[in-house]
Amino acid sequence: MRTREEPHVFPLIVTSAVASAVPSRLPRQKWAKRPGGGSGAYADVRDTRGGTMGKVKQQGDVIDVILQQHNLIRSLFQEVASASGNERASKFKQLAQLLEVHEDAEEQVVHPMTKRIASEVADARIEEENQAKKVLAQLKSMGPDADGFGELFEKLHQAVDAHATHEEKEEFPRLRDRCDESDLRDMADKFQQVQALKGGQMRR
Ligand SMILES: [Fe+2]
Ligand SMILES: [Fe+2]
Repeated sequence: MRTREEPHVFPLIVTSAVASAVPSRLPRQKWAKRPGGGSGAYADVRDTRGGTMGKVKQQGDVIDVILQQHNLIRSLFQEVASASGNERASKFKQLAQLLEVHEDAEEQVVHPMTKRIASEVADARIEEENQAKKVLAQLKSMGPDADGFGELFEKLHQAVDAHATHEEKEEFPRLRDRCDESDLRDMADKFQQVQALKGGQMRR
């Protein structure tokens, strides 16, 4: 006999490969502050006799991973703007690929969780990403040597910088407050899996 299918915990479409990225239970309340108030887990480093040598930050959580990518994205925007010729084309290609995998992974792994905590924050970020995708597609079809590329590229630069700042100031603090630390670390794994998958597809 068929049993009735249970409804999904949240009405969002995520691919089966990353469905487990978003924990099925609701986010728990804020956990205890970690040493130093930073992100990521900390562990004792011990010497060969078992004595402690201090604490080091272990593998980061999804927010650490994203913040590192935001830095890289911001640097690449500067590099494209100051490069010319083949170097500019190559840096732009690198930036476009990074932006695509970055936003794709956020949309599959991060924004669905934010949507459960503050849906208007997630919706605003997705809308910004959709706008940026349109401009990026336009730039890709023009190519970096086209007239008007520089102006449109600067428009994308400003939009992506503002978008990243909104994520950093409005979205991630909410995730840090409401999500369990282990969930944020699991999300880092899924985020990187989505990017590896997408990167592989883009190279084909
Ligand atoms: Fe984003
Ligand atoms: Fe981002």
